[in-house]
Amino acid sequence: MSIEAKIRKDLQLNEYEETIFSKIDWKNCPKHIAIIMDGNGRWAKSQGKPRTYGHKKGVDSIHSIVELCGKIPVEYVTFYAFSTENWKRTESEVSMLLGLFSSSLKKYLNQLSDQGVRINVIGDLSKMGPKIQKEFLDANEKTKSNTKICMNLALNYSGRADLTRVTKEIALEVSSGKLDLEKINEDYISQKLYTGFMPEPELMIRTSGENRLSNFMLWENAYSEFYFTDVHWPDFREVHLFEAILEYQNRNRKFGGLC
Ligand code: FPP
Repeated sequence: MSIEAKIRKDLQLNEYEETIFSKIDWKNCPKHIAIIMDGNGRWAKSQGKPRTYGHKKGVDSIHSIVELCGKIPVEYVTFYAFSTENWKRTESEVSMLLGLFSSSLKKYLNQLSDQGVRINVIGDLSKMGPKIQKEFLDANEKTKSNTKICMNLALNYSGRADLTRVTKEIALEVSSGKLDLEKINEDYISQKLYTGFMPEPELMIRTSGENRLSNFMLWENAYSEFYFTDVHWPDFREVHLFEAILEYQNRNRKFGGLC
């Protein structure tokens, strides 16, 4: 059976989804997709609901996308869930978000684990309190041998902070005589980042019509294709990921070359 037939077997597609799906070259799928989930607040407002309702609904979108990524040849999917700048939000929104990370993990952990999802965190979890830190480290430990899809959650994450952390670590290695200055190269830096064990994202998606990177995987996104959509994150479903993958496949990736 072809990869396409295998994937189609697991999905129930409507006519429009089928049109997009059939145009995708499943042998040329990005291995790593990074997503800036934006627009939860605006979506909630448009429904006459509090912002927090948008965040709750955003968890359903994560769930749909992870499930889909487990069925297609994507190996890593990274979600920007909480940036180091998000602490500036109101105390009640921050506290709701922290509660939501914890309760969603509890709700879905066994199911995700059974589906072969590896759960990994990028970011400085130590600032999120001992309870959340333990829950996510335990989830990481429980799922570390799963190979279907690696779901990375960026929590208390900042691309600049990660590069600063790595810079300090390398400076210490050099000053203590453990590392020769000449050994520092791009690969050495890459493998020390939180994302060190995974390939760089080929596709970076941001929802809700904002065209910014917002301190997200600054080093890793150097050659990613950026895809911006007006869809708010709580509305983002399988079909929107198909649209993004198709657009990615229609781009001419030159990596600074000419073709
Ligand atoms: C951006 O929308 C969204 C966030 C900062 C939070 C995203 C978090 C979730 C979807 C929950 C994740 C849960 C787990 C388990 C990781 P916004 O609030 O900036 O929306 P706005 O721009 O419309 O105000």
